[in-house]
Amino acid sequence: MNVHAAALNPAQRFDEPASAFAQDAIEGLSSHPKRLSPKYFYDAEGSALFEQITGLPEYYPTRTELGILRDRATEIGAMIPQGAALVEFGAGSTAKVRTLLPDCALGAYVPVDISGDFLNAQAAALRQDFPELAVYPVTADFTAPFALPHTVRELPKVGFFPGSTIGNFEPFEACGFLRSARAILGAEATLLIGVDLEKDDRVLSAAYNDAAGVTAKFNLNVLARINRELDGDFELSAFVHRAIYNRERHRIEMHLISRTAQTAHLLGHSITFRAGETIHTESSYKYSVERFNALARGAGWTPRALWTDADGMFSVHALAAAE
Ligand code: AVI
Repeated sequence: MNVHAAALNPAQRFDEPASAFAQDAIEGLSSHPKRLSPKYFYDAEGSALFEQITGLPEYYPTRTELGILRDRATEIGAMIPQGAALVEFGAGSTAKVRTLLPDCALGAYVPVDISGDFLNAQAAALRQDFPELAVYPVTADFTAPFALPHTVRELPKVGFFPGSTIGNFEPFEACGFLRSARAILGAEATLLIGVDLEKDDRVLSAAYNDAAGVTAKFNLNVLARINRELDGDFELSAFVHRAIYNRERHRIEMHLISRTAQTAHLLGHSITFRAGETIHTESSYKYSVERFNALARGAGWTPRALWTDADGMFSVHALAAAE
């Protein structure tokens, strides 16, 4: 997978090997069109900026999903069998799992994330507030197969993947993730997953081109990160952030557009830009319920329940592992 799901959550990601970043940055910036993977947004700066994004008036997904989880907690909780192991793919903020805890009797909570330090800090905070809850953090890249702890082998399994992080995967990657989750969680499993919905272009455009310019800073931070970590000399003011909705491909595309013809460097490599040339830094796919259900079915899941907010902005799906 070229999008690293574990790195797409609002968490601090410090442990990515610099060499992988160097290789991907040189390769992506030497391609036509130029691209950078969104997984590189999330260093300490980028994670803090993402946290700010989630509180912006225009950025509806986080608060809308939290609203659904809170308002429908009883119904969602009813999808979680008593004594189940809840396996959360990516351990960002624990705010979302906390909304579910009062309405279900978990046997264990298993947050899975590539950043061990962040994961352990989140697990410790949760243990303090819910001393009865057995928390078994797993440090792993959840886009690849990994083993669940032995202690939860016999428990019913429920996967939890909030945040519409699946939207940052290319459709074939989203299918790959759903298949892999099905294999990890097993035959009787349920998956609770947050998916952002297609909507008016203006609402989408505003959410990714906020008036305060936080998303622009978040996007530009990837160049700042290249400067910090890969001996780069990108002039940030020579690039402009733009997010556009590509309706044919059902995705918001984030770009950094070169204002002028210019040459930048990283690790001794020269990268030349024409005036107006873009770097594609992120896609955020938006689904209709039907398209998401088709994707889920194709990956071995049967749609069981669906919750949306009153305005139909965001969806939370319960999927059951198909026979
Ligand atoms: C993490 N992910 C679901 C966010 C999204 O909406 O695609 C990342 C983001 N990019 C710009 N704003 C938020």
